[in-house]
Amino acid sequence: MLNIVLFGPPGAGKGTQAEMLVTKYNLCHLSTGDVFRYNIKNETELGVLAKGFMDQGKLVPDEVTIKLLISEVEKNPQAEGFIFDGFPRTTPQAEALDKILTERGTSINMMIALDVEKAELTERLKNRALSSGRADDADPEIIENRIKVYMDETFPLKEFYDQQGKFIKVNGHGTIEDITARLFETIDLALA
Ligand code: AP5
Ligand code: MG
Repeated sequence: MLNIVLFGPPGAGKGTQAEMLVTKYNLCHLSTGDVFRYNIKNETELGVLAKGFMDQGKLVPDEVTIKLLISEVEKNPQAEGFIFDGFPRTTPQAEALDKILTERGTSINMMIALDVEKAELTERLKNRALSSGRADDADPEIIENRIKVYMDETFPLKEFYDQQGKFIKVNGHGTIEDITARLFETIDLALA
């Protein structure tokens, strides 16, 4: 199995690049943000709960998010590997992910961090606000808060994976195609 954590701040291009990796490496794309948005759209209990946090740019509590992740992994027993997008975001989430994968006889191969400057992130998200319908894109203050939450609560996870020799930083600037090529090269090299 090939299991990749795609890491990076809001607007770094995780969702965009995950789609490319899924096709090339035959992986199952698991985005906790997408699953929460699906639940919001369908007005489920989970959606109502998550919306309160997401609309403010805050993290949904670990207990809820970890439960969701486990159920998504369990829904895909035939997967040849996963690309985790937007998960883990906290140390308890990273520990839970290790446990879930260990129980299945597998593990994370690498964490790839898309490195993008803040000015570019806010520009991308402001542009996306015109079409995404995402409440958390519509307000510059919420975008600011999402980036701050990333720096305070999520970025420290770099250490967690670095200590295991699994952290790889990739330049996230340039065209979507350039970045995809960089990612393919990086992954192929790490697997060689
Ligand atoms: P989530 O859905 O994960 O959003 P995010 O991390 O804020 O990241 P985005 O989806 O906004 O950006 P992205 O990196 O995927 O970039 P994209 O490819 O879209 O989380 C949303 C919320 O859900 C969180 O705030 C939290 O409340 C909750 N949540 C989710 N997971 C959680 C967890 N594990 N724990 C707790 N809470 C959780 O690209 C962005 C834009 O830029 C697009 O318009 C794209 O077309 C464009 N673009 C992409 N690449 C390029 C490029 N190279 N050049 C120009 N434009 C580009
Ligand atoms: Mg995304």
